[in-house]
Amino acid sequence: TEPPNNTVSSLTFEPVGYSKADRVVLPAGYSAAVLYATGDAIYPGVSDYRNDGTNTDFDKRAGDQHDGMNIFGLSDSGTYDPERSDRMILWMNHEQIVADPLHENGATAAADNGGARPKVQVDREMNAHGVSVIEIQRRNGDWSVNKNSIFNRRLTAFTEMELQGPVAGHELTKTKASPDGTRRFGTLNNCATGKTPWGTAVTCEENWYAYFVRGDDQSARSASENDLLSRYGIRNDSGGWSYREWDTVEGGGDLYKRFDITASGATQLDDFRNEPNLFGYVVEADPFRPGQAPRARTALGRFSHETASFAPAQAGKPIVVYSGDDARGEYIYKFVSDENWDPADEGQGLAAGDKYLNKGTLYAARFKEDGTGEWLPLTPQNVQANGGDAQLFGTTADVLLRTRLAADAVGATRMDRPEWGTIHPKTGEVYFTLTNNEINDQGLENVTQVDPANPRFYRDPGSPDKDEGNPNGHIIRWKEQGSRAGTTFEWDIFLFGSDESQDTDNINLSELSVDSEFSAPDGMLIDPRGIAWIQTDDSALSEKTNDQMLAAIPGQVGDGAKREVTSTQDGFQPQTVTTYVGKSADEVQLKRFLVGPEGCEITGVVLTPDARSLFINIQHPSGKWPSPSGDATAIGNANRPRSATIVITRDDGGEIAV
Ligand code: FEO
Ligand code: CA
Ligand code: CA
Ligand code: CA
Repeated sequence: TEPPNNTVSSLTFEPVGYSKADRVVLPAGYSAAVLYATGDAIYPGVSDYRNDGTNTDFDKRAGDQHDGMNIFGLSDSGTYDPERSDRMILWMNHEQIVADPLHENGATAAADNGGARPKVQVDREMNAHGVSVIEIQRRNGDWSVNKNSIFNRRLTAFTEMELQGPVAGHELTKTKASPDGTRRFGTLNNCATGKTPWGTAVTCEENWYAYFVRGDDQSARSASENDLLSRYGIRNDSGGWSYREWDTVEGGGDLYKRFDITASGATQLDDFRNEPNLFGYVVEADPFRPGQAPRARTALGRFSHETASFAPAQAGKPIVVYSGDDARGEYIYKFVSDENWDPADEGQGLAAGDKYLNKGTLYAARFKEDGTGEWLPLTPQNVQANGGDAQLFGTTADVLLRTRLAADAVGATRMDRPEWGTIHPKTGEVYFTLTNNEINDQGLENVTQVDPANPRFYRDPGSPDKDEGNPNGHIIRWKEQGSRAGTTFEWDIFLFGSDESQDTDNINLSELSVDSEFSAPDGMLIDPRGIAWIQTDDSALSEKTNDQMLAAIPGQVGDGAKREVTSTQDGFQPQTVTTYVGKSADEVQLKRFLVGPEGCEITGVVLTPDARSLFINIQHPSGKWPSPSGDATAIGNANRPRSATIVITRDDGGEIAV
């Protein structure tokens, strides 16, 4: 085959229209095949998935709710070959679960079972979380999982891991299960990913806080510990929105009990009050060394990590990683390693991770009105200089454990929910999706305030069930000034999501049309050819269409215009703010490439080096898909809907999209 086209100037596919159908819709000349669905066996001798809620061995099967992915090409001898396009290790995050279809008659609440959830159900659920590492291969044009691969494994909510970096061993990480604060079990709510320059992968823990339940009595903890729990959304009632009562399990030990973080014992070593402090990190594992325990890299901060985007490594320069905190009004971060990159560390696995990811400086972003921005160091000195309490922010470990509070103190910019980040392979500019930001029952103040980088506040008339704020989201991007590791940048906004019928002065600022209309950008990749892939989640356009993926050829920061935008919303003062808008949708050739089946989110995207196989995930479909004879009601039937990875190819074998 020809090498991929590296001077892409136009996208050749015909855009697809809106779809509410229960199938994957693609442009003419393209096909999709299911590669890896919830419950698929990953080892020889493991039975085919019955999909009727009776399988119990999820530690040997695909987990649920596929999300971020990485690929690692394999040579014939099984070593890392980044150029290989027909044999590779696929790294797959399993963000969370749709609980009912996993169990024969749906999930049993503790209250309906004498106060305890059945252990068989909890084991299934905990094993359906985490990561899959599987070998895949293309034979005669078809992709499949190689169940015999030595690389196949699952990380689950049980897997033993190390806590590394500054926070490891902090007083507030010591628990009954980890008395010295250096071990933890499992990884939770693994959303997007990253790939290190030394050939390992990272998984990002997003909504981990929601799995814990916290007793009502706050008197057993200090005020600052209670503040810390509150700032991370750990509620003091019956638990967060995805609390699954794992702590209540029948006959379970500490691996289950730890999800109840009530301070009930005499000391922190008698209970699990500190367990949440062991989560909320970027976790590194080596796909080539399955026997090694994963390592949580606390130097990259503790928050609802959505993504970890590694800048291309340059010899003699620090490793730089960008990460976003996906919650309303949270921040964008940048990590700069202390150590400079030595190309001899390629292939050195977690030892290289220890060198580059355990020591460095974490910064939070401030986006300014003049189109520039600053990286604000989250060091004890800087946090204290900005009014941070010297006791709470005395050490680097203190700061990282309380990353959100530290970023509050230094005055970083509250964003409209940062999701994925991706780095343009040619310009080096960094793109981040900001999925949306709506007033919810918490009535957050920040949602009602606009600023240059989050300039819109309105209600989408086409989605009356959505609240006001920025219901459609946008994609911000920036260019570092000077070096990659520097502290100033220039920014603008690549695209604004919108209903295409909205006014182009204040809302539909990117002039979206019916072919390019999107809302709630989430997953994103700019592939090596410079094509941007944009995926949506829970779109405010859901009355019109299922979630979708679009493609575009972006330009660069500053290629658009400075604009005054006025947001008006009933009951609020009109606000006018100056922002910077990139080229229009037409000018960047933005158009719809795919629409998914009913109820799904489109997330996760990787392209083979030959640009001929594009992998994406259909997450939490709610109709029949992927089985045409599936059963949308799920319970009491086989063929329930399943999350799955699909492979998209062109029928003529050509490159995707060009
Ligand atoms: Fe897991 Fe913010 O998406
Ligand atoms: Ca996401
Ligand atoms: Ca999302
Ligand atoms: Ca999701």
